[in-house]
Amino acid sequence: MRQIPLRTDPLKGPVLLRLFENAIITFPKSFLWGASTASYQTEGGNHRSALKAWEKTRGWEECGEAARSWELFDEDLRLLKSLNATAYRFSLEWSRVEPEPGRFDREALARYASWARALAAEGIRPLACLHHFSEPAWLLHQHPRGWAEDGVREAFLRYCAEAGGALKGLVPDWLVFNEPMVFLVGAYGVPYFPPGGWGLLNPRGTLLSRVVPNAARAHNEARDLLKRLDPACRVGVAHNVAALDPARPGDEEARGRWDWFMHRNFLDLTKDRLDFIGLNYYTRVFVSRCRLPGAPLGAFPGHGELEERLGPLLFRLLGGRRGDRPRSGMGWEVVPEGLGRVARELHAAYAKPLLVTENGMAAAPGLSRAAFIREHLDALARARAEGVPVEGYLHWSLMDNYEWGSYRPRFGLHDRARRPADGADYYARVCASGAL
Ligand code: BGC
Repeated sequence: MRQIPLRTDPLKGPVLLRLFENAIITFPKSFLWGASTASYQTEGGNHRSALKAWEKTRGWEECGEAARSWELFDEDLRLLKSLNATAYRFSLEWSRVEPEPGRFDREALARYASWARALAAEGIRPLACLHHFSEPAWLLHQHPRGWAEDGVREAFLRYCAEAGGALKGLVPDWLVFNEPMVFLVGAYGVPYFPPGGWGLLNPRGTLLSRVVPNAARAHNEARDLLKRLDPACRVGVAHNVAALDPARPGDEEARGRWDWFMHRNFLDLTKDRLDFIGLNYYTRVFVSRCRLPGAPLGAFPGHGELEERLGPLLFRLLGGRRGDRPRSGMGWEVVPEGLGRVARELHAAYAKPLLVTENGMAAAPGLSRAAFIREHLDALARARAEGVPVEGYLHWSLMDNYEWGSYRPRFGLHDRARRPADGADYYARVCASGAL
């Protein structure tokens, strides 16, 4: 496959070559172009989230006022227009909408509804997500075992019903969960999100027997509920899917186990209630077989970030393999063709419409965001040409935001002061023309 070096600015290639490529790499008029954000990461002032206390416990940088999107939505809309976006994905903050158990904040819901209206008035399709990692503090006080308890699912469905009712007819595409497996593994598998637990040491225990099925059931019931409220809406999930490779010959089975655990299991449990699959793609991961105690499912996913956290020695001891591609500011290997690959794999397995609900990079010296976008879209165009039904591409993220513990990684097409960052101009041209 043709490779354009990621460090090259695509706007500066030889003109003839660009003309030729533009002639073949185009997307249809109906293709959705836009960006994604999430409430806790951008709104600011979400003091009732369980993450508030968690930030202190874990010594995280405080989220504080984030990008102030709760006040500055008009500014965000202006950025979307400057990008020529036709879609915007945001999330509702459960802890804002339901600050105390059973007490719903009508004004907050009305504000989200006004956002959806304002977007539609500008020809921008709103996609709303109901659960993007952050949960109300009261939820875990009432249900200390979190998603291992039925009560959490019941509370979540009450909130979905209120939100669905308040935004009825305004949201054509709902996402019930963002990255359910990243969230559930982060909260119950390793102590990254509250309540924090080490279920990954025994994933076949509560994590797979209670927590994941409970969340999958919540998705299924939320989907039915949203469809009852608005039969015309579609309901999907924003699912994090990495391109998985066996680290070495003999590691294929471990790769398959990890693929099932992180990617397939949740989709298998919800596939009859998915109108589309949102795909969050960032990187490739080499998976190795690992017999050391503590290796979940006997597999070690050598995620780039893990290497940075564990250090190279322990990483290699656990079987980790490091890829040789450039790395983003998160330490994630940048592998654009992986996006086409995972889209093909999801299509083959589930035959659902696909929408890229996140793809982006944390800035790193020498990495061009414009080239990153171009390469990923190129991979997507190739998959589309083979008949994979990808409906749109939403870049993560509209602006720099709170990256779960730190403001250091900069994923934004704009900074928090809403000044354009590297790649914004290029992306705006692609959104307008549908051509790379
Ligand atoms: C999440 C976002 C996050 C992004 C970059 C995704 O896993 O949905 O909340 O900021 O990746 O890490």
